[in-house]
Amino acid sequence: MSNFWNELNKPIFILAPMEDVTDTVLRQVIARCGKPAVFFTEFTNVEGMFSKGERHVIHRLQYTEAERPLVAQIWGTRPENFFKAAKKLIDMGFDGIDLNMGCPASGVMQKGACSGLINNRPLAKEIIDATKEGAAGIIPVSVKTRLGFRAIDFSWIAFVLEQKPAVLTVHARTVSEMSKVPAHWDKLQTVVEMRNAINSTTLIIGNGDVKSLRDAQQKVAQAGADGAMIGRGIFDNPYLFSGTITLNDKTPQEKMHLLLDHMQLWIDTWGDSKHFPILRKFFKVYANGFPGAQDLRMQLMETQSPEETEQVVASFLQALSSPV
Ligand SMILES: Cc1cc2nc3c(=O)[nH]c(=O)nc-3n(C[C@H](O)[C@H](O)[C@H](O)COP(=O)(O)O)c2cc1C
Repeated sequence: MSNFWNELNKPIFILAPMEDVTDTVLRQVIARCGKPAVFFTEFTNVEGMFSKGERHVIHRLQYTEAERPLVAQIWGTRPENFFKAAKKLIDMGFDGIDLNMGCPASGVMQKGACSGLINNRPLAKEIIDATKEGAAGIIPVSVKTRLGFRAIDFSWIAFVLEQKPAVLTVHARTVSEMSKVPAHWDKLQTVVEMRNAINSTTLIIGNGDVKSLRDAQQKVAQAGADGAMIGRGIFDNPYLFSGTITLNDKTPQEKMHLLLDHMQLWIDTWGDSKHFPILRKFFKVYANGFPGAQDLRMQLMETQSPEETEQVVASFLQALSSPV
């Protein structure tokens, strides 16, 4: 069994999967700024992978070597598709497979998928078993979930641990809590104790509200966990995983060049195949923390194409170099 997880130094810091955010472009941008120990893809529907609509989901699985180790995150409801997906993901060269059992979006939950599985343990077990069978010990299978559905429910955590995933990532909130309350990092310690009590080798990764690597180190140490997964923190600081650099160390000019580099990579990767607003939301990250940033941000958020964005950035840079 080749399990890359066991070769990583602890604590393990991971970039969280985020739909319409952590595609191959953003992962390459983050890898250049400061690389996490592991990347995850956006969640990819296994039913879609084997349907006529495959081309609508397959972009989620595009990657470059700079993003390794890379785990493909999948979701769905039909165990036979998880089995097939596992085989296909091995052929595609992924380092691991993660099962999404935590997404609270009503569309997926109503299908009984993702966090819906917290209320359907027989299907959750079938899905884990089918994926493991497909992965055939060639790559590791992990699970990302929440602390419970309506209330914190350690019997769900115990159930997942019994399935012996290579890694259990716990977003420390319930499904009902969405992202509306602070993450219950204090509960991670109980998860770790439960893992230890059954002498399991499953790695425990905590997730939710981590702001910096230092914050991650403290939270992980307090819980006794093996690592932390960090998502939205990169919007404030794409350099978060470097542990030393922050975006605020950069001049406005540097920030604009980062934006342009990000956009160029996007154009080279996706051309016209993705909607421009998916890229545009990142402009807020770079147009931040300097005089005039708010105005610039508003102008950038109204652009409709890369060409327009380039023009806005060019006039901003020109005004900077020749102040009135
Ligand atoms: C825009 C967005 C998209 C997300 N998409 C996914 C996803 O595809 N799969 C998943 O497991 N979690 C997804 N999440 C949840 C994150 O992985 C993470 O669990 C959550 O944001 C809490 O961590 P954070 O506070 O560090 O952001 C998403 C979160 C956000 C904000």
